[in-house]
Amino acid sequence: MAVQRTLSIIKPDAIAKNVIGDIIRRFEENGLAVIATRMTQLSDEQAGRFYAVHRDRPFYKDLCAFMSSGPILATVLEGKNAVALNRQLMGATNPKEAETGTIRADHADSIDANAVHGSDSEENAAIEIAFFFGDLDLNSRQ
Ligand code: CMP
Repeated sequence: MAVQRTLSIIKPDAIAKNVIGDIIRRFEENGLAVIATRMTQLSDEQAGRFYAVHRDRPFYKDLCAFMSSGPILATVLEGKNAVALNRQLMGATNPKEAETGTIRADHADSIDANAVHGSDSEENAAIEIAFFFGDLDLNSRQ
């Protein structure tokens, strides 16, 4: 299995619940290493650019409003099969469908306030990582 990098975002709802440590612990205990991290609050415009792929979806406006409603924690995770492993640890987008023991099953309240975001492919991971971080911010743990 190839070593990959992926972007994780802890969303405003999970930040407000003070569960950053619990979420990062799950990554570390499952073989993912934190190689960059940044807390920030996006503007509505910045959230719109990050989620531009969803711009024609009915939920786009609410998504941008929610993602700019409070601080988020952007983290780059590195490890074997990191993209798929992170998504497995997150659970399904809709927490009602998320498997027991996943981050969203334990911390998400709704499909909008669903605790975490994770890149869905290696290609998108590279784009999403570059949105928040420059090369000098990435400290490989390999
Ligand atoms: P995320 O993984 O951050 O990617 C896009 C987000 O849009 C998603 O999590 C959800 O929080 C939000 N969203 C709201 N409604 C939907 C929907 N019907 N399908 C997919 N994503 C949705």
